[in-house]
Amino acid sequence: MKRHFNTKEELRDYLNLHSNEKSIGFVPTMGALHMGHISLLKKAFTENDVVVTSIFVNPTQFNNQEDLINYPSTLEDDLKLICEISEEIVVFTPSVQEMYQENVRSKNYDFEGIDLYLEGLDRPGHFDGVGTIVEELLRIVSPDKAYFGEKDFQQLLIVKSLVKQLQLPIEIISCPIVREANGLAMSSRNSRLTQTQRDRAVFIYDSLNLAIELAKNNNPQQLKKLIEQRFSKEADFDLKYFEIACVDNFLPVTEFEANKHYRFLIAVVFHDVRLIDNIGYTHFVIN
Ligand code: PAF
Repeated sequence: MKRHFNTKEELRDYLNLHSNEKSIGFVPTMGALHMGHISLLKKAFTENDVVVTSIFVNPTQFNNQEDLINYPSTLEDDLKLICEISEEIVVFTPSVQEMYQENVRSKNYDFEGIDLYLEGLDRPGHFDGVGTIVEELLRIVSPDKAYFGEKDFQQLLIVKSLVKQLQLPIEIISCPIVREANGLAMSSRNSRLTQTQRDRAVFIYDSLNLAIELAKNNNPQQLKKLIEQRFSKEADFDLKYFEIACVDNFLPVTEFEANKHYRFLIAVVFHDVRLIDNIGYTHFVIN
């Protein structure tokens, strides 16, 4: 049976016929699938009757045309990988025209301030683009659960905010970062690096781990300076930001408070490839 569709109408018709009374899990992607995506698909598969995934490189979330042009595209391999998990996974691969018609533009959202820092600051318009396409996809698929990876930690919070404000009855499931054997966070963009560069890029994850160590004896401002200094000595890494956000409101912090949870987030351009990563930190203080 055909389970690969390019148009919204075909996908809706299929789901209307085959998902009655069944739970739907949805994994939106931009393709160039890796083990991180596979882990989302497998989780969706164990938790739902029907699994839908989309492969769509969304132009409105790229503020940099070159980044969009260079974004890897490996559709045939992606389809094979999906089939290896299960031939029952429904795949949606629309064109830009299908998703946007003639109007390739983002809507404007109020993301309760979550979008004002980090990726939002470094990539203007990025989260409006993400919001626009995720809203459209969620409305087409109407899943019970949608799965997002924690590597794009800020995106995950943006999507949760979106679903809340649109009052969509969808549970957003966050899934842990999957790393390469050396510790580098899995990303479609890693395919643009050689193995030697990937080994070198572990410096990013090592820096996050070092930050955890240093956080015990340094306040957030000192910590930021130490990490910035570390990167300033490495000519091949262009640090875009290293930031410390409180997980409650995602605002950058100036002090650590006892037993609160934080996220250390980093973005780096390395050999023209933009890489992001993050790690959780709890400021344990024993009285
Ligand atoms: O994380 C991604 O791959 C994309 O931002 C998403 C959620 C598929 C929207 O284009």
